[in-house]
Amino acid sequence: MSSPASTSGPDLTQGVAIDELPARGTLLGHVGEEPVLLVRREERFFAVGATCTHYNGPLAEGIVEDDTVRCPWHHACFSLETGEALRAPALSALPCWSVGQREGKVFVGDRKPAARARTVIASAAPARIVIVGGGAAGFAAAERLRREGFQGSLVMLSDDDSPPVDRPNLSKDYLAGNAPEDWLPLRPDAFYAQHGIELRLNAEVTGIDVASREVVLRGGGRVPYERLLLATGAEPVRLALPGIDLPHVHTLRTLRDCRAIVARAATARRAVVLGASFIGLEVAASLRARGLDVHVVAPDQRPMERILGPQLGDFVRRLHEEHGVVFHLENTPASIDERRVHLKSGATLDADLVVAGVGVRPRTALAEGAGLAVDRGVVVDAHLETGVPGVFAAGDIARWPDRLTGESIRVEHWVVAERQGQTAALNMLGRHQAFDAVPFFWSQHYDVPINYVGHAPAWDELAIDGDIAARDCAVRYKRQGRVLAVATIYRDVESLGAELRMEKATASA
Ligand SMILES: Cc1cc2nc3c(=O)[nH]c(=O)nc-3n(C[C@H](O)[C@H](O)[C@H](O)COP(=O)(O)OP(=O)(O)OC[C@H]3O[C@@H](n4cnc5c(N)ncnc54)[C@H](O)[C@@H]3O)c2cc1C
Ligand code: FES
Repeated sequence: MSSPASTSGPDLTQGVAIDELPARGTLLGHVGEEPVLLVRREERFFAVGATCTHYNGPLAEGIVEDDTVRCPWHHACFSLETGEALRAPALSALPCWSVGQREGKVFVGDRKPAARARTVIASAAPARIVIVGGGAAGFAAAERLRREGFQGSLVMLSDDDSPPVDRPNLSKDYLAGNAPEDWLPLRPDAFYAQHGIELRLNAEVTGIDVASREVVLRGGGRVPYERLLLATGAEPVRLALPGIDLPHVHTLRTLRDCRAIVARAATARRAVVLGASFIGLEVAASLRARGLDVHVVAPDQRPMERILGPQLGDFVRRLHEEHGVVFHLENTPASIDERRVHLKSGATLDADLVVAGVGVRPRTALAEGAGLAVDRGVVVDAHLETGVPGVFAAGDIARWPDRLTGESIRVEHWVVAERQGQTAALNMLGRHQAFDAVPFFWSQHYDVPINYVGHAPAWDELAIDGDIAARDCAVRYKRQGRVLAVATIYRDVESLGAELRMEKATASA
């Protein structure tokens, strides 16, 4: 997260000559202390807050498309008309101002009142919705349901002991010690009662009775539903190794996991991270920020090669080495004891903290138990509905038909999970909307963000534009000449542009 954009640029209440604004242009200015983006779309003008409500991204550096503005950092999308956060990861609206014209100038006037929740047609809406999962998809669905004006009973069941948190932060700023814990909750505790969301924590759902339309809780309680959203996410893979259950060996999924690693890191000196993909390497960077010696052990030839390709993999490796991380690649752990990790190569690494980040497994047991179709994820249609009418699935567990390739895919990304939660919310209200957002994720390594848009589990051509070592590049992953995904470093507008192009290709497929 960064501080909000400064109040640079003109005072927009004093007026700007219309001729100075291109017909489809933007101008960053301010109203009092607030940075404001003035947007011209031919004859229409809009004034919205210039700072993204997710992590304070600079919207003046984003893209205006139709009547929306998109954030350059993690691709949130806001309505210019109402400021509404149309697409995650932002969930809160931008402030908006009225705009008037006189004597060839455009003036920003009063701040508009916040938009009210919409009104749903009561006859089309169910009376009772239950969401299983208090993570990205579950929270985004609940928030969207209330924003859409859903008035019925809304119960969110989570077996976690924390209310929904900003999970990506658990391996980044919070773990590094750069973010206080009060940045983590997606909403303050009071939000749930204020919005009539019955959030039940430590509530493990053990079964779904599809015939009676009830979920069954550990302990025997039952909660009836008319629509059900399964958003149970994924859990870390646990390696079958001697010593894996020792108290200094951790995985990272929940706030509780993260607190335990932070507590251990306070006295530890040497950490071994098992796994060289996103979470493992973000953990490595954060532990370096806390001053620990960090060694990374992984079977791969290069970090992240399977997703990003060899060139970016080499870059990521060098970046971590420059920060003091030591890699033990093409190697795996054989056992762990109180003070060391023993590798299959015969080497031994001292370790008073071990974090295993070797992948996750979707939590599909509930769906399987209920007889839903499961194929390495819960199978859903384009509307995120399972084969059982009224039962939806979203987030890390969902396998859905990708409209760009026609393949059925499952991804483990924060923004995808949130956007799926939002689409599922609309569909539980009977809107019948296909999920067609292009997958997007970001990963942060020290001061280098990597943005990735699209989905390319395999490619036959990799085209590099720019200079990876100079941290200014776009890498395109193609199959049969078609761009399936684009990874960028410090080319945010290019990443947004790629998303737009893929959306249009998706829509016309
Ligand atoms: C440390 C970390 C960093 C990450 N960083 C990034 C990143 O930078 N970018 C990115 O795109 N993605 C990132 N991810 C991945 C991202 O967090 C996930 O893709 C996302 O959280 C998936 O959302 P979800 O709602 O499907 O699942 P989750 O957020 O995992 O939520 C699942 C919820 O279901 C609950 N649950 C499960 N089973 C039951 C049950 N039987 N009964 C009751 N409740 C149950 C869980 O307690 C949890 O509340 C990161 C993940 C982690 C762990
Ligand atoms: S800062 Fe705007 S989407 Fe994250």
